[in-house]
Amino acid sequence: MEISRRRLFRDSIGAGATLTLGAAAGGLRIPQPAQAASANDGHALGFRSLTDEISLPGIPVDGRIPPWLEGVLLRNGPGLFEIGEQKLNHWFDGLAMLHAFAFAGGRVSYANRFLQTSAYKAYRREGVMKYAEFGTDPCRQIFSGVSTIPVIGKIPNANVSIERLAGQFRALTELPVPVSCDPHNLRTLGVDVELPQGRMGTAHPHHDPRTRERFSYEIELVPPAGLRIVSERNGRRRELAWIPDDRPGYLHSFGLTDRFVVVFVQPWEFDLATFLSPDGGPIVKSFQWDGSQPARILLVDRKQGGVAETFELDPAFVFHHINSFEDGDDVVIDVCAHEDASIVDALYLKNLRKPGPSVPQAVPRRLTVRPGRPKVHSRELADGNIELPRTDYATVNGRPYRYAYGVGVRNPRKSGFVDRVAKLDIKRGEQSFWQERGSFPGEPVFARRPGSTREDDGVLLSVVLDAGRKTSFLLVLDARDMSELARASVPHHIPFGFHGVHAARG
Ligand code: CO
Repeated sequence: MEISRRRLFRDSIGAGATLTLGAAAGGLRIPQPAQAASANDGHALGFRSLTDEISLPGIPVDGRIPPWLEGVLLRNGPGLFEIGEQKLNHWFDGLAMLHAFAFAGGRVSYANRFLQTSAYKAYRREGVMKYAEFGTDPCRQIFSGVSTIPVIGKIPNANVSIERLAGQFRALTELPVPVSCDPHNLRTLGVDVELPQGRMGTAHPHHDPRTRERFSYEIELVPPAGLRIVSERNGRRRELAWIPDDRPGYLHSFGLTDRFVVVFVQPWEFDLATFLSPDGGPIVKSFQWDGSQPARILLVDRKQGGVAETFELDPAFVFHHINSFEDGDDVVIDVCAHEDASIVDALYLKNLRKPGPSVPQAVPRRLTVRPGRPKVHSRELADGNIELPRTDYATVNGRPYRYAYGVGVRNPRKSGFVDRVAKLDIKRGEQSFWQERGSFPGEPVFARRPGSTREDDGVLLSVVLDAGRKTSFLLVLDARDMSELARASVPHHIPFGFHGVHAARG
């Protein structure tokens, strides 16, 4: 039975890839540029498509960009929220667009381009949606009363993050197929691997510069299902652990210490029967929250391989690990913790576009475990909420640290959408903020001042939507005190994205 299911999986990928949908007859339809937002939809402009590809050699700067800030801030996120007649349902579904803010001598230039994914190319060629996204999948066809599985393009819609690996830049989504791109002209260079059937991956791999290893995971959704932890070094791949699981839990990120790969397994579980059922819907519908199940922390031994320790704790939902490190015999695991998986539903565009959407917020939580003891100690690192966390990764990842940065919501009861940049001071157990009425910032990327010795001696780079002006700007904050150093404005809005990198020149 399992073999036939897998066979079906494989066959249906082939069948799906050549499907021609009815709407194709309508020809190429390109949405018009975003209409001006009405006065009361504020942040919702950040969930409208940006259809134009723009290159601006110099953009106006208010304030002073530190002269040492060079290189480029590359960001990834959805640019297009409808494909022809098909409206995408979820924030995670939009077609990938890359944005680059380049710095030189205090000046800033900007450019954006769509990633040339299979989905984007099909849209440009035929004006239709041909591939499955996380929360939208009109493409599933029924053969012999059994649905096909979601059809993923050869070049996936990698709209989540950007990884820098050995001088290369790669756009990532939750599939183990990186899409290479050129940071100078934002051209798409393509993919090196084919997606194995039914496999998910991570948009948040880890790199250890000391050992030159890259760490990632793979989730196998179809039997034999489970979680695989993988390391790579100089292109050589090693399976560190295989954890069989009929209902693998969804993961978005993980932690890395000197000795361990740290995995927080949450009880938002993949249900194969739903996935394979004719009315299964997009893949998000195949994950089910089971609050009666504990969450688990797995420590995978980086050297020996295998799961060294497993701990159980109250259920919680985590998109983002902040950092992990070893403190004597303890392993410290900092995460942005949601109470449950309801955050995923809250990120449907229908909800997000409402004035004052209701969006559950994550708290900065420290989980401490000690191998050989079952207890998990849990405490909040500070009051308030934080998401899209960043640190000075190159210096502090896997190490004791003091600062993290992110976005947050001033008043979660009134307005559920992020409206401030947050700095978390772990030593003092408090947060400080940058905020401005009508401004909606994205993930702040930390860039360290060359030669600095203080952990927070650098700038934060955040793309902010100015709802009043209906345009976006790049905000440059002094990470030490969260004061504004400069803002560089573009004449259009930039849809809310997820993650980015700052790459210094050279
Ligand atoms: Co993420």
